[in-house]
Amino acid sequence: MAESATTRPHWASRLGFVLAAAGSAVGLGNIWKFPYITGENGGGAFVLVYLGFILLIGLPIMMAEFLIGRHGQKDAVGSFIVLEGARSPWRFVGWAAVAASFLLLSFYAVVAGWSFDYIVKAATGAFSGRSAEEISALFGGLVSNPVKVIFWQLLFLATTCVIVLGGVRGGIERWSKILMPALFFLLLLLFVRGMFSPGAERALAFMFSPDFSALTPTSLLDALGHAFFTLSLGAGTMITYGSYLEKDVDLFPLALRITILDTMVALLAGLAIFSIVFAAGLEPGAGPGLVFQTIPIVFVGLPFGALLAVLFFVLLSFAALSSSISMLEVSVAYLIDEKGWTRLKSTVLLGAGAFLVGLPCALSFNTWSEVTILFGRNFFDAYDLLVSSYMLPLGGLLASIYAGWFWQEGEEKSELVGEVERPWLYPLWHFLVRYLAPVAVIMIILNQTGVLG
Ligand code: PHE
Repeated sequence: MAESATTRPHWASRLGFVLAAAGSAVGLGNIWKFPYITGENGGGAFVLVYLGFILLIGLPIMMAEFLIGRHGQKDAVGSFIVLEGARSPWRFVGWAAVAASFLLLSFYAVVAGWSFDYIVKAATGAFSGRSAEEISALFGGLVSNPVKVIFWQLLFLATTCVIVLGGVRGGIERWSKILMPALFFLLLLLFVRGMFSPGAERALAFMFSPDFSALTPTSLLDALGHAFFTLSLGAGTMITYGSYLEKDVDLFPLALRITILDTMVALLAGLAIFSIVFAAGLEPGAGPGLVFQTIPIVFVGLPFGALLAVLFFVLLSFAALSSSISMLEVSVAYLIDEKGWTRLKSTVLLGAGAFLVGLPCALSFNTWSEVTILFGRNFFDAYDLLVSSYMLPLGGLLASIYAGWFWQEGEEKSELVGEVERPWLYPLWHFLVRYLAPVAVIMIILNQTGVLG
């Protein structure tokens, strides 16, 4: 099926778009990554800084990306070409986004594969009758087994490809409608359960009482990178999803809703997980295994626990899928729109490519655990650092510089403000994307690299 600009598919409904974009935003970033990096960065102060970045930098940049995509009605590269012409250097920003989303997918699939494995563990009763320590130890058993990890990584990527083959509406929109709310309710349940557990008080204190002395330049960069990661910014995703949006949609409330939802999911997951950590005497800074080492512990003590554990990892896997399809869609849309490839060819080749590029990450916890690149990091940490801390913030930075400094004012203003009376919106947004976001991103990156001393 050829997808040309004239027949560009659009979202079936506004709700469908919000759910798909929220589906992209809500993923492993919220439930797997946010808790573990919060644990590593000492809690409260990190959370506060992260929330500030979400609101003041993430939300305005999300709006900028939606606007760019909706205006261009094309993939991340094509939208810049429509705006600035075929020879404009801005198209490199689109390419960088395509590269970032591809690299991100290759690494993301490894972690999502772990979640697949945990569905099987839960379904076969691997957690029942075990102590908290025994459950935590299962994680090491999984990641040290390269065959298993690669098998699940491959299966996850194949699933992602199948959904993306279904195209925007059929594939992406339909599933998000059912599974996102289900995930939210299950997290709510875990949160409530956590708040009635002996770890509740320490979990709340850990996440919300800030100790600013714990903040290092690296934690600032982690918080910034994660604000981009969790909102799916800087990777062309929101440009691409915005391009499937009708012109008359009022963007601000949509972007705000997505941001709030994403943040709530992360906070719920964090509180649920830390209440388990403190009740069971585990380590908040346990690293990338944290969610897998903690959540199953709660289910063991709940009625229908085994069933709920299966449900949890099924929903976590779906949350990961609704994010991974949005990553793959960025480069698929690029190849379809710019290179005239078919959806089938683009999807299959990119899926296979992401598998190969991701292999070193799958081996990072086993066969290649001794192999280090990039200042002593294994491949897994190096990919994460490169994409989350540098590529996404830089991609978002360039999008905000474009929207704040180079885009014709009248054009973006009328599209942003739309029909609705909100006189404060444009000046505020414009200030944030023109000054605050670029200055903050540049300073945090320079601060980390030591340039600011
Ligand atoms: N936001 C997703 C998550 O939190 C990850 C993502 C990043 C998806 C960038 C698309 C683009 O898991």
